Amino acid sequence: MSIKEHPPQSKDEGELRSNDSFALHVPVLLEATLDTLHPKLGESYLDLTAGYGGHANAFLEQTKNYSHAVLVDRDDYAIEHLKALETKGVRLMHTDFVSAAKQLIQEGTRFDIVLVDLGVSSPQLDQSTRGFSFMNSGPLDMRMDRRLGVSAETLVNTASSAELTRIITEYGEVPLGEAKAIVTAIVDARPLSTTEELANLIKTTHRGKWKKTHPATRTFQALRIAVNDELRLVEDLLSHLPDLLNPGGRVGIISFHSLEDRLVKQYLKAQFESGYEAELQPLTKKPILGVTHDVHNPRARSSTFRAAVKK
Ligand SMILES: C[S@@+](CC[C@H](N)C(=O)[O-])C[C@H]1O[C@@H](n2cnc3c(N)ncnc32)[C@H](O)[C@@H]1O
Repeated sequence: MSIKEHPPQSKDEGELRSNDSFALHVPVLLEATLDTLHPKLGESYLDLTAGYGGHANAFLEQTKNYSHAVLVDRDDYAIEHLKALETKGVRLMHTDFVSAAKQLIQEGTRFDIVLVDLGVSSPQLDQSTRGFSFMNSGPLDMRMDRRLGVSAETLVNTASSAELTRIITEYGEVPLGEAKAIVTAIVDARPLSTTEELANLIKTTHRGKWKKTHPATRTFQALRIAVNDELRLVEDLLSHLPDLLNPGGRVGIISFHSLEDRLVKQYLKAQFESGYEAELQPLTKKPILGVTHDVHNPRARSSTFRAAVKK
């Protein structure tokens, strides 16, 4: 299976303006998540990747239970945006979802609905200063949580050739020969400081014509996954999900590339097949795909939604 591109959204929006950023992110598979997780009046809601609140607003419109809703994101811009919901009684947590899950479990807080919508938001991609996208020139940053240490710039300029090759082959699923060529070019050209420099450099290593996908797509995605430690956090989160749910509680996970979906699929499969010890049961027979269930939203193209219910 190949890693899929997170489709670029729109041209550079520059600095986020507090009131228009919300409109920039169209929630993925919104109808499918609402139909499957079926929020009811009075139910409690946990959104572990609240972003710009697209899903959260729609779910809270159904539950109307703002004081039993918790929204988590590790991005300070997202949290700033979500403050409008805080005024209605919603609790915000500015941290990564594993830390949030552990804290909520320790407090004994359980939910009727838990949603995880992985990946990056449109404003993160579109804002050039965040450095997520080669569509806009900006500093090589890529940190979702800007309080944290290592940016893509540090990684690209200081990691060994072996480490960069591992990241690009493992997280970008770039063939070894191509990855080595990219890494040699990076090491020869260091220091690199902008997304444009890196994207142009990768383009020079690419032999032959490229069709739909820009040759830098997979390397950018690989660096983003490494900078944000994305796969380890998803793997850690999965085992905490049953402890966040009330009996009868539903959890839904939207993933955007095959590496994260594989982790979700394997975890749920192991749960469903663990006999009387299973805490979760399937809510959907098959995964719901954005490509067939959310055709009008370009962001949904590579999305996969899986859901389960706690016994
Ligand atoms: C696809 S967006 C969510 C969009 C949201 N569902 C909406 O409709 O507005 C993913 C969000 O998850 C956040 N995120 C990704 N990984 C995270 C993690 N490990 N912990 C906390 N937040 C995370 C990102 O910062 C981003 O804001």
